[in-house]
Amino acid sequence: MPDLPHLPAPALPSSHELVLKVIPMPADSNANGDIFGGWVMAQVDLAGSVLPARYIQGRMATVAVNEFIFKQPVRVGDILSFFATVTRIGRTSITVEVEVYAERFSDQGQYLKVTEARLTYVAIDADGRPRPVPVPVPVPVPT
Ligand SMILES: CC(C)(COP(=O)(O)OP(=O)(O)OC[C@H]1O[C@@H](n2cnc3c(N)ncnc32)[C@H](O)[C@@H]1OP(=O)(O)O)[C@@H](O)C(=O)NCCC(=O)NCCS
Repeated sequence: MPDLPHLPAPALPSSHELVLKVIPMPADSNANGDIFGGWVMAQVDLAGSVLPARYIQGRMATVAVNEFIFKQPVRVGDILSFFATVTRIGRTSITVEVEVYAERFSDQGQYLKVTEARLTYVAIDADGRPRPVPVPVPVPVPT
C-alpha cells in the first residue's frame, strides 16, 4: 500500500448510518442555479425509507414529513451523503431522522450539513391499509 497523505477525519454523525450518496446534476437546479428543494426532498424520502425497510419487510408508504429544514443551499456537483437513524418504532409506523451533508465540488473531504429531516413510514398491506411492523426474530449468535 503506498504511503498516502493524511486527510483530516470528517465530523459526521456516528449514531447514523450512511444510506445514500448522490450527486445532483444541472437538470435538478432551479432558476437561481441551486438545486430544487423538491429534488432534495425526494432523495431524503428515498434515503429515509432504507432503515424502515429492514423492519417492515414489504410494502410501506410515507405518511408524514414531520420536519424538514434546508440549512444550506445544495449546488450542482456537490457529493451528497445521507445519514439516517430510526428514532421510533410504533405499532404500524417507523420514524427516522435523516441528515444530509455536502462535499462541495471544489472542497472534497469537507462535510457541510445542508438538510435535516424527520419522516414517518407506515407498513401497509396489499390493500394499502396499515399493518403491524413485524417483530424482529432474534438472530442466533454463533458460539
Ligand atoms: C399511510 C396510510 C396508509 C395510513 O393510513 P391511516 O388510516 O391514516 O393510518 P393510521 O391513522 O392508523 O396511522 C398509521 C400510523 O401512522 C402514524 N401517523 C399517522 N399520521 C402521522 C403523522 N402526521 N406523523 C407521524 N405519524 C403518523 C400513526 O401514529 C400510526 O402509527 P402507529 O401504528 O405506529 O402508532 C394512509 O394515510 C395513506 O395511504 N396515505 C398516503 C401515503 C402516500 O401515498 N404516501 C406518498 C406520498 S407522495
